[in-house]
Amino acid sequence: MKNMRTPWLSFLLSVMVMIQCVASAIVLNEASVFSETTHLDTGGLSRESFPEGFLFGTATSAYQVEGMADKDGRGPSIWDEFIKTPGIIADNSTGEVAVDQYHRYKEDIDILAKHNFEAYRFSISWSRIFPDGAGKVNWKGVAYYNRLINYMLKKGITPFANLYHYDLPLALEKKYQGLLSRNVVKDYADYAEFCFKTFGDRVKNWMTFNEPRAPEPYIVAHNLILAHATAVQRYREKYQEKQKGRIGILLDFVWYEPLTRSKADNYAAQRARDFHVGWFIHPLVYGEYPKTMKNNVRDRLPTFSEEEVKMVKGSLDYVGINQYTTYYMQDIGPRQPQKDLSYQQDWNVGYVYEKNGVPIGPLEYSGWLYNVPWGLRKALLYIKERYGNPTVILAENGMDDPGNVTFSKGLHDTTRINYYKDYLLQLKQAVDDGANVVGYFAWSLLDNFEWRLGYTSRFGIVYVDFKTLKRYPKMSARWFKKMLTRKKH
Ligand SMILES: *[C@@H]1O[C@H](CO)[C@@H](O)[C@H](O)[C@H]1NC(C)=O
Ligand SMILES: *[C@@H]1O[C@H](CO)[C@@H](O)[C@H](O)[C@H]1NC(C)=O
Repeated sequence: MKNMRTPWLSFLLSVMVMIQCVASAIVLNEASVFSETTHLDTGGLSRESFPEGFLFGTATSAYQVEGMADKDGRGPSIWDEFIKTPGIIADNSTGEVAVDQYHRYKEDIDILAKHNFEAYRFSISWSRIFPDGAGKVNWKGVAYYNRLINYMLKKGITPFANLYHYDLPLALEKKYQGLLSRNVVKDYADYAEFCFKTFGDRVKNWMTFNEPRAPEPYIVAHNLILAHATAVQRYREKYQEKQKGRIGILLDFVWYEPLTRSKADNYAAQRARDFHVGWFIHPLVYGEYPKTMKNNVRDRLPTFSEEEVKMVKGSLDYVGINQYTTYYMQDIGPRQPQKDLSYQQDWNVGYVYEKNGVPIGPLEYSGWLYNVPWGLRKALLYIKERYGNPTVILAENGMDDPGNVTFSKGLHDTTRINYYKDYLLQLKQAVDDGANVVGYFAWSLLDNFEWRLGYTSRFGIVYVDFKTLKRYPKMSARWFKKMLTRKKH
């Protein structure tokens, strides 16, 4: 075909390309046009659908948005090392620049405020504060978070600060294998305390860890729980009374629905919940691991000493639940306890994604995220019933588009609007049924560095042009703006 192109045809083609460029430039400049011309269906939801004081925000994490990964004194984290593994990140990208929130935080907070959100869940990069994980402070890093926090407050945005989002300082990994070593408990608690002392006059909502989704050895989780509890203890003993804040943890929770009503499938689903969210929340509420875990993991599961139980039990003022999706669980018969010794085999369950040929929900781009709104309600009511109705924030929820989605489709994200509408209707039901949920955070504010998917997956309610880093609120952002408009009194 290329050889058959006549000169006038290529001229015509280049004119067409020019017209397209001009057209898209018009869209880029007048992205606000569609808010007036497009009907945004809130499904009857409004701010008044939720209790007085209920907070709406968006969430991000440091490595995914900040950039300046090796600048202004920041030390490397394990992610800066991991991304160097050839072929490990889908598009061979890094978080070196990410979406440059380090410099563009004002614009980002302005976008939040303009769309009627009132909270922002961000994370602090440990190695930006302590480049070596412990010891010497990087004051440029401290200054950055001061700027960010102060600007949020200026704009009426409540900061929710998470102290750890997968980004362990590389120095500690090298020094003693990071979370595999009990040494991490003290270094983490010192870092956390530094943050309470430095930012706690303004930050009243703390979260210690965002728990990894990936299977982790039991030792790592055990040390993480102890590090969490130690930080909480320091906060409560030295800062909480004066600063009047609260502290908790962030836990991923896929809802696991039994495939059939059989007892065996019900037990399988229960094991899955225990191994996923129960692994962390059970000790924090009851001081021990779930029974199903003890039964299946046996002596490979660490135990808490009596002293530790006292510290771990009750070490939650509130809990953040990250909820995106739901899977069916199926019994797969007895296991071979002598042979099957991996974390996933310990679950001893079968994953199923459809029933009678019907998928559990539409599969979103990332390949793990089935859109199943009712799973959110079940997950929240489960936390309510099983764990004494703790104060909960729904700390992450959202869906992605492919990174190469066209600009126009990326902005007209009607599937995402429907996702949020349907999930929020279920959230409202859970709240109406008594679940003590006090806030909701959409993941994410911006398209950003999506870990191993690099920039090939867009979870934002704001489209980011990854070349220019310009931000364009999507239709979903406008949907939130409309839904969250306060009625004038
Ligand atoms: C990423 O790098 C690997 C080699 O390290 C290469 O095989 C692959 O094609 C690259 N992928 C992209 C999207 O550039
Ligand atoms: C996006 O990338 C995928 C996979 O590389 C490809 O199949 C698809 O056609 C691309 N879509 C667009 C709009 O470029």
